[in-house]
Amino acid sequence: MGIYLDNAATSFPKPYSVMKKMMEYMQDIGATSGRGAYKTAIEADRLIYNCRKMICKLFNGSDPAKVIFTSNITEALNVVINGFLKEGDHVITSSLEHNAVWRPLKTLERDKNIEISTVCCTDEGITDYNDVEKLIKSNTKLIIFTHASNVLGAIQPIREIGRIAKKHKVKFLVDSAQTAGAYPIDVEKDNIDILAFTGHKGLLGPTGTGGFIVNCYIDINPLKSGGTGGDSKYPYQPDYFPNRYEAGTPNVVGIVGLGEALNFIYSVGIKNIRKKEEEIIEYAIERLKSVKKIEIYGPKKSDKIVGVVSFNIKNIKAEEISYELDKQYDIMVRSGLHCAPTAHKIMGTENIGAVRIGIGYFNEKEHIDTLVEALNKIQNKYM
Ligand SMILES: Cc1ncc(COP(=O)(O)O)c(C=O)c1O
Repeated sequence: MGIYLDNAATSFPKPYSVMKKMMEYMQDIGATSGRGAYKTAIEADRLIYNCRKMICKLFNGSDPAKVIFTSNITEALNVVINGFLKEGDHVITSSLEHNAVWRPLKTLERDKNIEISTVCCTDEGITDYNDVEKLIKSNTKLIIFTHASNVLGAIQPIREIGRIAKKHKVKFLVDSAQTAGAYPIDVEKDNIDILAFTGHKGLLGPTGTGGFIVNCYIDINPLKSGGTGGDSKYPYQPDYFPNRYEAGTPNVVGIVGLGEALNFIYSVGIKNIRKKEEEIIEYAIERLKSVKKIEIYGPKKSDKIVGVVSFNIKNIKAEEISYELDKQYDIMVRSGLHCAPTAHKIMGTENIGAVRIGIGYFNEKEHIDTLVEALNKIQNKYM
């Protein structure tokens, strides 16, 4: 088995108990939820509700019914952005957004006359929250911020931004793709109105899971209509949570796996997960600095970033580095623009991209040692 350092894309490995629970569900239960009244269907209901409850508790939400499951965070963000914003509304967002936010916004700008303002940040991805307040206008309806950049790793001052949003009665949506499960999030303390999450990264669940938590009064039009297992005579989508946003058969096996992943996270504790990752991040930054002609992007302090470190080595293309790492050394990293073109603009790498390592809970310092050794060899080969 090689060394997996692409946890910012999806986490690997998953806890063994997650796979076991999914297998047990597939073998012994198999039923969908919210539809049947027989024993296994009720057990599927219970497992899904249990996962809602655990997500709600993890992020300190007020009501498990307001945890909506979607197939990933991209879908969750699309539901909120497209279902809430109306013609002529103004949105404020960071300069570091993933295309999961950026593309729906740009599409609304083109098709529905939505106005977008981006908050500037330093070339390391540090945002001054005071800059957000300066951009608020009478038609500002939504502030959207990634909690941490998926390219620079930089953690954004969401609590302060949330406070500003509250003060001006503007809704605040946070993309927690790079932080959920790896960094403490509290929707109350962090002043978050809607928290979007993905299940397969730091939350250690399977792909095909994600969602959002609603922590305020807000009218979001559902993107989909369809079966919910109840109110079948009513011709429209029910208007209560979570059914309003959950049309069609849910990904029961995925949600069961996510629930078990949350059990694992609770057993270790978010603080301990963060502590371990921070140690490895610190170690990675220090060790990477020893590679000749390397340029490391983003803040160089482990308390300022999540487990994402991007870099380039002078005169060697990012794709060549990731290709060599995989082919010669069985080390899995990612190169390119990482679906975040505006972040690369800030780094000045929009034409060349960068190599990105994504550190996860199951990485160890030895993985970093092997990576650095391999990078030194690649560097010698290309000299
Ligand atoms: C910051 C950020 N937002 C959104 C996404 C999209 O995640 P998903 O593919 O799970 O929808 C990612 C994934 O790379 C991300 O890093």
